[in-house]
Amino acid sequence: MIRIAFAGKGGAGKSSISGSFARLLSRRGGPVLAVDSDPLPGMAYSLGIAVDDHPTPDNVVVEGPEGGPKWVLRPGLDAAGFIDTYASTGPDDVRYLQFGNTWGHFQTLQRGQHAWSQVVREMDPAAWNVVGDLPGGTRQAMFGWAKYADVLAVVTEPTPKSLHVARRLLNITKAEWAPSQVVVVANRVDEDEDIERISNALDRPVIGSVPNDPAVVEADKLALSPLDHRPGPFVEAIEQLVGVVESTYDMDDQRATKGKP
Ligand SMILES: Nc1ncnc2c1ncn2[C@@H]1O[C@H](COP(=O)(O)OP(=O)(O)O)[C@@H](O)[C@H]1O
Ligand SMILES: [Mg+2]
Repeated sequence: MIRIAFAGKGGAGKSSISGSFARLLSRRGGPVLAVDSDPLPGMAYSLGIAVDDHPTPDNVVVEGPEGGPKWVLRPGLDAAGFIDTYASTGPDDVRYLQFGNTWGHFQTLQRGQHAWSQVVREMDPAAWNVVGDLPGGTRQAMFGWAKYADVLAVVTEPTPKSLHVARRLLNITKAEWAPSQVVVVANRVDEDEDIERISNALDRPVIGSVPNDPAVVEADKLALSPLDHRPGPFVEAIEQLVGVVESTYDMDDQRATKGKP
């Protein structure tokens, strides 16, 4: 199972890439859970789930025991049951969980946040491929919000500002919980020099290079997934990216069976 999270500056392309990645991965077989920890809508659109406000009832959580988390899933409801009942289902059968859905009233937000975190923490890693979309900035990435991921992909545009954020994010490799692989995905790349600029600025493998594709912006205006509106160079690049990530996992398997670290 592939577990990957996308991080980067706001506007770098995390949601467009992660949503399309989730769907293309699902088309290759295997259940995919898209976990969106950006409380602002983004990934839902690129998944093709135009309406992401599926409020989950307040009563899925109850007050937690003394000394533990403030709110926990109610007795009898575990992560699998929660996903089964409350994750939305999008095109290509991707299941989608959004963090910070207001659940009808913002005062219940905290309960929703606890439930989301518990589900992501406790879900069976053998049951799902997981594709995550982190909000812009460094906070979530640094503080372990993507602990579900084996691969953290930092999305960057070939601009100094975007690269600056990417450099900070790559500090995550120093975090205690850091994912086993931290890689770079170049987005809105127009020419070879763009890739060069990125590899020169960041000391990490660039595993994907996604071209600037006007169809992505058109799709956004129509509230469509890039997969459902004029799929072209962008979609092809994400397809390649899925292939690269899959083969990296295969290599890990081989290493594991050969008993090498
Ligand atoms: N490769 C691309 N080509 C053209 N437009 C893109 C590309 N990637 C992202 N965009 C556009 O850039 C904007 C920001 O992308 P988004 O995925 O929402 O970024 P993030 O989630 O990182 O904030 C969107 O309007 C999207 O359509
Ligand atoms: Mg986004």
